[in-house]
Amino acid sequence: MNHFVTMKDKTEAEILQLIRKANEMTKQGIQPLNKQYFAANLFFEPSTRTKMSFVVAERKLGIEPLDFVSDFSSVIKGESIYDTARTFESIGANLIVLRHQEENIAKQLAESLSIPVINAGDGTGEHPTQSLLDLVTIYQDFQQFKGLKVVIAGDIKHSRVARSNAIALSTLGCEVYLTGMEAWHDETLGLPYITMDEAVECADVLMLLRIQHERHQNQMALQQASYLEQYGLTIERERRMKEHAIILHPAPVNRGVEIDSSLVECARSRIFKQMENGVAARMAVIETLLNKGGYSNEKSFKKRK
Ligand code: CP
Repeated sequence: MNHFVTMKDKTEAEILQLIRKANEMTKQGIQPLNKQYFAANLFFEPSTRTKMSFVVAERKLGIEPLDFVSDFSSVIKGESIYDTARTFESIGANLIVLRHQEENIAKQLAESLSIPVINAGDGTGEHPTQSLLDLVTIYQDFQQFKGLKVVIAGDIKHSRVARSNAIALSTLGCEVYLTGMEAWHDETLGLPYITMDEAVECADVLMLLRIQHERHQNQMALQQASYLEQYGLTIERERRMKEHAIILHPAPVNRGVEIDSSLVECARSRIFKQMENGVAARMAVIETLLNKGGYSNEKSFKKRK
């Protein structure tokens, strides 16, 4: 593994290896890497948990995060993402973590740079480290994936989390269903749609999504209470879930919209556990890329264009 930009190119064995590594890292003491490394965390879209958990993961591994604030960088003078990333590579960054509004940009950078690139969310494209931490959280409850019924619920069309998870969960042998408002269906995922009432009764894992207001071209005047009643997880629906079923949400949560606010920290909610697992998931990816993957074998990297 030379980069981590998509779940599409990952085999079942590769994903399971990362899940198990991350899960071990949640239990064991951390072994910092025995070499000086610098990480460039290039965030061009807002982030709280992804950005900060990358910083914590890097520091735990003994990696120095390079501070970058796009609004105070030369991007404001018109410098491209490619030139920005090449600059970081030139001054000694060993790793690029990129969040950007443009779909596929992380993949394009990965094809052009000689250091590993991690996709921390590319527009409506993918969010593979979010998917990995979701998978670690599921693994901790179920210890396996084959035949698990996972329902991804909400703003499917605009969600990079839905895309990465739909791919990864299918690769791992889960039965994946989608549910949500018809205007937000995404038929390209090739997965069946069910109603929210069917979802709560069949799901082992109910994965709620945030409504991505910032990606909607036509701002719908959503009545929050009526959205919750029609498509969200109400207290009444939660009571109909299977005894062992768990609730995931990548956060930030629109409390009272996708989920009743009182359920965010209920017994079956793993929302803050997901955030906790995010540090280990990102450590597992970084450690794999720097230690065992491409970086220690730089000659295998594609030649720069
Ligand atoms: N889940 C997630 O990506 O959150 P942030 O936008 O806060 O990073």
